[in-house]
Amino acid sequence: MAARIIDGVEIAGRIRREIASGIDALKRQSGVTPGLAVVLVGDNPASRSYVRNKNKAAHEIGIYSEQHTLPADVSEAELLGLVERLNQDPKIHGILVQLPLPLQISEQKVITSIAPQKDVDGFHPVNLGRIMTGERGFRPCTPLGVQKLLAYSDVKIAGSHVVVVGRSNIVGKPMANMLMQKGEDADATVTICHSHTRDLQSITRQADILIAAIGRPEFITAAMVRDGVVVIDVGINRIADPTHPKGLRMVGDVKFDEVAQKAQAITPVPGGVGPMTITMLLSNTLQSAQASVAFL
Ligand SMILES: NC(=O)c1ccc[n+]([C@@H]2O[C@H](COP(=O)([O-])OP(=O)(O)OC[C@H]3O[C@@H](n4cnc5c(N)ncnc54)[C@H](OP(=O)(O)O)[C@@H]3O)[C@@H](O)[C@H]2O)c1
Repeated sequence: MAARIIDGVEIAGRIRREIASGIDALKRQSGVTPGLAVVLVGDNPASRSYVRNKNKAAHEIGIYSEQHTLPADVSEAELLGLVERLNQDPKIHGILVQLPLPLQISEQKVITSIAPQKDVDGFHPVNLGRIMTGERGFRPCTPLGVQKLLAYSDVKIAGSHVVVVGRSNIVGKPMANMLMQKGEDADATVTICHSHTRDLQSITRQADILIAAIGRPEFITAAMVRDGVVVIDVGINRIADPTHPKGLRMVGDVKFDEVAQKAQAITPVPGGVGPMTITMLLSNTLQSAQASVAFL
């Protein structure tokens, strides 16, 4: 059986059209344009490219966006001062500080300094706590993107056994918590696995939905999944490939070709989870701007 491909580019496009209409409606009804501030510290090429893509996507959809670039040796106090100014700025509804930060700066301190109502990355402890309690709040963009991919592909989440491999604060932990909540696009039975999990394969083979967020190229093989599983591959890894012009190729955490022979549905890499992450950032920024109007 060849799997149905869950097309992240197509689904992200559909959701972006919904966000664009939401932005138009907000502008018409209240005169408010959603605003996003992206903060880049230093000149890490990957971070620079992520920030560029986020700004571009925001601009294209009708979100006002501004970029603040600080030198790699900026002090923690200076960065906290900028975040505080953005917290107070009424035209900014979302603040994103691109991680990782240089060693002299505490990432946790910076994340915690962002006003929770502007934390569109969803990393503030208040928003992470709201996932636990099932309250409204910003959900981290990658797990939210995965949840939407499942929902838009009509994959039944309620009652399913979801196995999440990976327990990072940005993907695995929020992902597992979001899918075990009561309510829409949730109500799953969730198992979390990590590097200390004993006999990983015996657990991944029980999954109705397997979510791989490991950061190891093609780690999940056909032997680790059962027939008919739905596989979401969060991994982004670059491996050497002399047949490619740049000598590198992007692969996920799942051995796509062989797992696709057993799966019912699967996300590709690239073109699966990746396009959803920025889309969820746009969605969170719109949600924040809508909430700011509701409070006026
Ligand atoms: N598509 C996107 O937009 C997007 C966004 C974010 C991340 N990603 C990608 O997703 C992947 C995961 O990212 P992350 O930030 O969550 O990574 P991370 O912080 O490095 O976490 C990796 C997790 O995988 C677990 N793990 C590592 N080796 C394992 C093994 N042999 N068996 C079982 N579990 C193992 C680790 O377990 P321990 O906790 O025990 O160490 C850890 O919990 C990366 O490839 C990253 O590039 C993609």
